[in-house]
Amino acid sequence: MFWRSTLVAAAAVVLGFGLKDGVLAQSREFKIGLITPPAHVWNQEVAALNETLKERSGGRFSLAIFPSGQLGNESVMLQQLQTGALDMAWLTTAELTFRVPEMAALHAPFLVTNIEDAARVFRSDVAREMLSVLPQATGTVGLCYAMIGMRQMLTRRPISSAADLAGLRIRITPAPPISRFFEMLGAAPAPMPLPAIYDALANGQIDGLDMDYESIINFRFYEHAPYLYETNHQIFGMVALVSARVWATLSEEDRALIADAMQLHCDRTIDRFVAEEDAKLARLREAPGIQIIEDVSPEFFGDIVARWDAEWGPRTPYLARLRDLAASF
Ligand code: BEZ
Repeated sequence: MFWRSTLVAAAAVVLGFGLKDGVLAQSREFKIGLITPPAHVWNQEVAALNETLKERSGGRFSLAIFPSGQLGNESVMLQQLQTGALDMAWLTTAELTFRVPEMAALHAPFLVTNIEDAARVFRSDVAREMLSVLPQATGTVGLCYAMIGMRQMLTRRPISSAADLAGLRIRITPAPPISRFFEMLGAAPAPMPLPAIYDALANGQIDGLDMDYESIINFRFYEHAPYLYETNHQIFGMVALVSARVWATLSEEDRALIADAMQLHCDRTIDRFVAEEDAKLARLREAPGIQIIEDVSPEFFGDIVARWDAEWGPRTPYLARLRDLAASF
């Protein structure tokens, strides 16, 4: 008996499996990709997720982390997830709107105007329901939402109303609902991935961007676009994804372990953005050369909410449901 179990254990080690309660259990290093740089809160939480997975799996599971779009931009990572070439990714809800138009509702202008309510939206049953579309539409399993801070506007030159955005090239995260928002304001949206923005600003290719405080600090975008308008015009989500092909190879027990660990770090990410938003704005007030225009009201953007909703309401039933939810806060 002793020799038999020793032989099984040895074979398991050779084959990359571990013994758990006398049962063969798979060992895996999962490749996980992100568009954000190592200093970003998402990356810090993914590094912490690696520790949680190692600890809870008794060392069987770990992560090989690829930051800053090293594996390609988000659309490339989504394709890799679909084929199983990539195991996991933390991707923006913006990217997912190309394949899951329902999710555009999460990018509705002025759905909520503060970070605490943004957190409530991402923790809602309505938002969670949208994740059920992902396996069919993208070949991925969406385990949980997290987020970044509220979206603000940065421009190279001062503007006094949204009318001044007319004709300006504004960098956006590639996504139809965001693109339409700026087109409706008369701007020329310039979709480009996060790591490409600083050079585009430095070269004068773009006149402004919409962005959250965390990335404004990390990338020092204010060096070339010093006018920061505190607009809080949109929330911005992340979905923790696992390739459906990879998911199918895991036992029920291992899926639960991974889902719980992922949820823990999604929750911590949300909590950190809520807790740190004000301090990030305070830090930006100290940034050299920056001019902050605080408390810009939604009226600055005229009737954009009505116009945007008229276009996107017929495309996603979640828009009305999220507006109702937000009205109940
Ligand atoms: C962006 O595309 O603006 C973005 C993406 C991920 C995290 C933060 C910002």
